[in-house]
Amino acid sequence: MPSAGPVISAGIVEKAPAKINLALHVTGRRDDGYHLLDSIVTFVEAGDRLTFAAASEDSLALSGRFGATLAADPKGTGDNLVTKARDLLREALRARGLETPPVEIALEKNLPIASGIGGGSADAAATLRGLLRLWDAELPADELATIALRLGADVPMCLKSRPLRAGGVGEEITPLSHMPSFAMVLANPLKAVSTPEVFRRLDRRDNPPISSPPQVADREAWIAWLSTLRNDLEAPARALIPEIGTLCDMLAESGADLVRMSGSGATCFGLYGDYAAAEAAVRHLSQRQPHWYFEATRTVAGDSP
Ligand code: C5P
Repeated sequence: MPSAGPVISAGIVEKAPAKINLALHVTGRRDDGYHLLDSIVTFVEAGDRLTFAAASEDSLALSGRFGATLAADPKGTGDNLVTKARDLLREALRARGLETPPVEIALEKNLPIASGIGGGSADAAATLRGLLRLWDAELPADELATIALRLGADVPMCLKSRPLRAGGVGEEITPLSHMPSFAMVLANPLKAVSTPEVFRRLDRRDNPPISSPPQVADREAWIAWLSTLRNDLEAPARALIPEIGTLCDMLAESGADLVRMSGSGATCFGLYGDYAAAEAAVRHLSQRQPHWYFEATRTVAGDSP
């Protein structure tokens, strides 16, 4: 039977995949103190999950393994990136005369917070995507990118959630269509790291940029190339949180082909030959450190075959 009247949305679901900096070189600093980066970025299947539904008033509910941690954070539910993203998007759409009725947002926080894998940024990007769907609205790409950048340097790349190279402070994005999928273990000692503090402790801010990536989707070629790169934030983060060094040693011993820290830490990752090897590593690592975070996952592949 044909339905009459408007379609009532039962809720829109958006995944917020974790962002992984496979390499991150700090190449300079802007006058405002922000650092210029050259970073090789990908995204994984593991991540947070958000749902959006029309409601009589705005709300944000937290659940998931790290929901309570986020709720207890001073920035908590009142001032987190999800509500900021909602408010900035609403302002931009209202300026265009569009309707942005109240919305009930549920955030399943599966990723550790303040951990270098863009959890908050991925949530903010997923909020922009989800609310545009819920409100059935569009914004020009450049205006959406400006809103994303106001929310944080990593939010524009999280809007894409595809393999990419990021320059500037993170907003100059080039897709890396040849990057293959990698089996990966994410590992975190569950100690939050202050990003500004890590940047402050850098010895050098004028490192050379990253060389050209492979133009073929060959895993071995990518691992060999990634092995020549670094994360310049790893040394200052290790000085702040010695567990990062322990964690990297554990990942290397568990059979990873490449081990590195992501973002400003403390999450580190290992790349494995296949997903079964990553799962086996997680079983072994969780036995050694039952209270740390370990997760086997896969990265998304670039768009070309
Ligand atoms: O943009 P976001 O909120 O993620 O950045 C957190 C802090 O990290 C900034 O306030 C700044 O101190 C530092 N940062 C930086 N250069 C970047 C990104 C972040 O210095 N490219």
